[in-house]
Amino acid sequence: MSIEPKTRSVTGGRLGEPCPPDLLDGAENLTRDELHDLQSRRLRSTLRHAYDNVELYRRKFDAAGVGPADCRTPADLARFPFTTKADLRDTYPFGMFAVPMSEVRRIHASSGTTGRPTVVGYTENDISTWADLVARSIRAAGGRPGHKVHISYGYGLFTGGLGAHYGAERAGCTVIPASGGMTARQVQIIQDFRPEIIMVTPSYMLTLLDEFERQGVDPRSTSLRIGVFGAEPWTEEMRREIEERMDIHAVDIYGLSEVMGPGVAQECVETKDGLHVWEDHFRPEVVDPVTDEVLPDGEPGELVLTSLTKEALPIIRYRTRDLTRLLPGTARPAFRRVEKITGRCDDMIILRGVNVFPSQIEEIVLRTPGVAPHFQIRLTRRGRMDHMTVRVEARPDCPRERREAAAKLIAKGVKDGVGVTVEVTVVDPDTLERSLGKLRRVKDLREA
Ligand code: DLL
Repeated sequence: MSIEPKTRSVTGGRLGEPCPPDLLDGAENLTRDELHDLQSRRLRSTLRHAYDNVELYRRKFDAAGVGPADCRTPADLARFPFTTKADLRDTYPFGMFAVPMSEVRRIHASSGTTGRPTVVGYTENDISTWADLVARSIRAAGGRPGHKVHISYGYGLFTGGLGAHYGAERAGCTVIPASGGMTARQVQIIQDFRPEIIMVTPSYMLTLLDEFERQGVDPRSTSLRIGVFGAEPWTEEMRREIEERMDIHAVDIYGLSEVMGPGVAQECVETKDGLHVWEDHFRPEVVDPVTDEVLPDGEPGELVLTSLTKEALPIIRYRTRDLTRLLPGTARPAFRRVEKITGRCDDMIILRGVNVFPSQIEEIVLRTPGVAPHFQIRLTRRGRMDHMTVRVEARPDCPRERREAAAKLIAKGVKDGVGVTVEVTVVDPDTLERSLGKLRRVKDLREA
């Protein structure tokens, strides 16, 4: 794929090049030592704020026999108790807010799959910090002031739309607040308004791509040069698929509502080697999901995040359930990276004793000729045995007689690569459900 821009950015320079030094903010130029000092200071005041103003933290810290004064360096954080989604649910809706409601300017909520939603709040400063961090993320992705940003993350209680929106404005971009859905119209708007950047879930990007093709538009011919994709796991194979079909740079953005929203970590366009955690505002740790032990950098485990500046909802050692490992910084040397997050503890399917992640299936499907990147996993029970069926769409140009071979290739890939036997069916093009936002890949029909 060429990195030649179809349009020049307003500030000059080519797309896909590192952020020029004059566009980096102060924190991006810190040394690791300076960052360590900043984290220590901010951590102490966050722990104090949480302890003084949130009953649940006070109870948990007291029960663990620790207080804010016990955290002298970021490593001391390991002595503090974890926070989980259950804590937010148990204190629904506002029990973990640390400021009076009169200081809360905005509320978001995440529906999750079961039970009560988790509710989060932001003060004016929180909203401003969030905008700063998404703006930094957009610049790291290659965005520049003057670019038009088409935002197809859903607007509403979900943090994706509004989080991206305020950040793109803060970055000096022109925002096109498309939100999710009305796919045919989105494609028209992209052709007419000519945005350089799109922010969307990777699965909805695929839906848009198909719509371009349905309308007879070559997706490579659009004005889009950069895609900032997140809110769900996606693989390197998916990056390649999207970059090739659209001739864009596809970079990864990570975040979660409990910790802020999009913009907790961002991949830099010049390296595309994992996501730099904006460590001036969040302290990452990786723990063993079973023993809870803090793991050294480089070891895979569950990401745990602590906010360092949040006012309305300070969050201490939040168990994200996302699996990754911490790596040293590259394009932003002060900030450590997290490896691309391709799974959550909760996504793991245990099939006849073997751990299977949907991302492993995605990798195999995407490297198989003749099939489209649309697939669905179904779990059923046959007798006493769990059974997995992978339904994959044929590409429109794949002859019927080639489908059986593609199905066999995928089944063999899963057997060899993951170690389980699955049934693979290649179905007609355009028959599987399309994503309008976050995609649910797995249909678990075992209880039914
Ligand atoms: O998905 C925030 C967001 C919006 C991030 C737009 C990026 C872009 P929640 O709805 O609270 O917030 O879901 C958070 O989504 O714990 C991960 O499991 C998953 N997730 C988010 N970004 C990524 C990513 C938003 N880049 C949950 N890669 C997280 C993999 C991601 N998973």
